[in-house]
Amino acid sequence: NWTMGAFVDQEIARIRALVGDKAQVIGAVSGGVDSTVAARLMHEAIGDRFHAVMVDNGVLRQDEAKQVKETLTQGLGVNLTVVDASERFLGLLKGVSDPEKKRKIIGNTFIDIFQEEAKKIAAAAENTALAGKVEWFLQGTLYPDVIESISFKGPSATIKTHHNVGGLPEKMDLKLIEPLRELFKDEVRKLGESLGIPHDLVWRHPFPGPGIAIRIIGEVTAEKVRVVQQADKIFIEEIRNAGLYKDISQAFAALMEGKAVGVVGDQRLHGYIIALRAVQTTDFMTADAYEFEQKFLRRVKNRIGNEVQGVARVLYEITSKPPATIEFE
Ligand code: XMP
Repeated sequence: NWTMGAFVDQEIARIRALVGDKAQVIGAVSGGVDSTVAARLMHEAIGDRFHAVMVDNGVLRQDEAKQVKETLTQGLGVNLTVVDASERFLGLLKGVSDPEKKRKIIGNTFIDIFQEEAKKIAAAAENTALAGKVEWFLQGTLYPDVIESISFKGPSATIKTHHNVGGLPEKMDLKLIEPLRELFKDEVRKLGESLGIPHDLVWRHPFPGPGIAIRIIGEVTAEKVRVVQQADKIFIEEIRNAGLYKDISQAFAALMEGKAVGVVGDQRLHGYIIALRAVQTTDFMTADAYEFEQKFLRRVKNRIGNEVQGVARVLYEITSKPPATIEFE
């Protein structure tokens, strides 16, 4: 009779046996359910010898880095370093509008920063008498990812390689530790609840690694990020208030390229064009646009118009996947 409690005990024992009583482990956390559950398990198993690193790439949801810090540090007791690299990412993204280039810059810079941070952690660890070397790298890989990477060797593997920190452990000469590799998503959620991870985090919609950068068509600037973050926050807030959050698989605001004319008071406004997207899907391979009531969409449009400076139009995106993808880039 398989239970969460038994799984936790067994996994903690396995981690302790594997890592031993000196070696240290590092891992990236994103605020998503998988990395949070994996981090919490590591903390249960080896305490502060597990070091979580969160890289703020400047294209996260509004206040995300702050919230992750609160949840992991205060809430779950995890030993966490947050690296604020927003300016570095935005600097590198300046003038870049090609979607693949944006993804590459974000992925590669993430790896660079994570490596720099890991070196610092390893250097600090060497000076403490109790702890040993950083030998392990934590990854929140789930069972479906394991299957996928076995069955999709070849060019199509790149579809998912952007997903995590592909190649990093080998580069850094670290061994991989994957405590969730036998679990499906719903099991990770159950496990998360049983480990005391907040309900909202456990049931959070997925968020892509390149973040808001692939929801801003064209060049990413700090100003555009601000507009998308604010519009997104309003949209999600209204979805939650209407009790629709769990019914929808993923929802977000995006920014279209160019500007449109509008009128604010008696002033002509040449402003941003926001697109809202919400989808229902079981596997994220195909998806349908969510059918909101007009009243709901008008409410969101009004709030975005009133509360987000510089927005002239709000659109609702109705394309299914296929032919569209869920993200805009
Ligand atoms: P698409 O846009 O391909 O998205 O229909 C399918 C799901 O994958 C997420 N996604 C990503 N997740 N890194 C990620 O971690 C990425 O580069 C990436 N691109 C898309 C997307 O949010 C959706 O849930």
